[in-house]
Amino acid sequence: MGWMIQTEDVRKTYRIGKVDVPALRGVSMQVERGEFVTIVGPSGSGKSTFFYILGGLTHADSGRVTIDGVDFTALSDSARTRMRKSKIGFVFQKFNLLPTLTAEGNIEIARDISGKPSGPAGREYINRITRLLGIDKRLEHRPSEMSGGEQQRVALARALVNQPAIVLADEPTGNLDSQNSEIVLNMLRQSNHELGQTVLMITHNPEAAAYGDRIVHMRDGSIVPPEKDPQWSHAHD
Ligand SMILES: Nc1ncnc2c1ncn2[C@@H]1O[C@H](COP(=O)(O)OP(=O)(O)O)[C@@H](O)[C@H]1O
Ligand SMILES: [Mg+2]
Repeated sequence: MGWMIQTEDVRKTYRIGKVDVPALRGVSMQVERGEFVTIVGPSGSGKSTFFYILGGLTHADSGRVTIDGVDFTALSDSARTRMRKSKIGFVFQKFNLLPTLTAEGNIEIARDISGKPSGPAGREYINRITRLLGIDKRLEHRPSEMSGGEQQRVALARALVNQPAIVLADEPTGNLDSQNSEIVLNMLRQSNHELGQTVLMITHNPEAAAYGDRIVHMRDGSIVPPEKDPQWSHAHD
């Protein structure tokens, strides 16, 4: 099958001093090409750890991660970094923009790193997504001169600029008001539809989770059925 993301029994335990903190206790899941999956679960359930491992930003202790048919966990660090840069766009809760660059600089630098799509076509795409995100008039501003919502819209433009096959977002609306959340979520969904992008988004918010095709529930480092997620059923009471 053409899974875009596949994990098998992924495990990770952090060690703090002499204390083991299990974060992932064997996570197996598949995401289809072009699917928009949301992951929900209480704080501390291992969502971000899973996100970092999927993105090749952290190593799992054991288990396998396959991205677009390639065993991500078996690659050398440099090969994994290349693959990450060409295939994955990241959005974080805390924007992570470079403070000394303008909005445009932050977007351009992501494009420069992977070198595609460049030229006028790339420029046109930047114009289009910055317009759609409502930041086309903010391109000369630095992060400190923008609201949180504007910064996250810039961060999303940066994540999308290379038209990555996969977009990974960890609580992208966690610091946003409802209006900015809607802009960000609509853009993710539109990009998913138009480009057939695979989107995996972590969120606390049931309304945000509903933007995806399918909701995956995590609890205590494992994927669980929805009825085992009290916080979630509570949100729907
Ligand atoms: N860098 C770290 N060092 C030690 N423990 C960590 C680290 N990151 C996360 N943890 C622990 O791992 C567990 C899962 O955390 P995390 O993946 O951040 O969950 P979530 O994103 O669902 O809140 C928690 O118990 C957390 O305290
Ligand atoms: Mg987290």
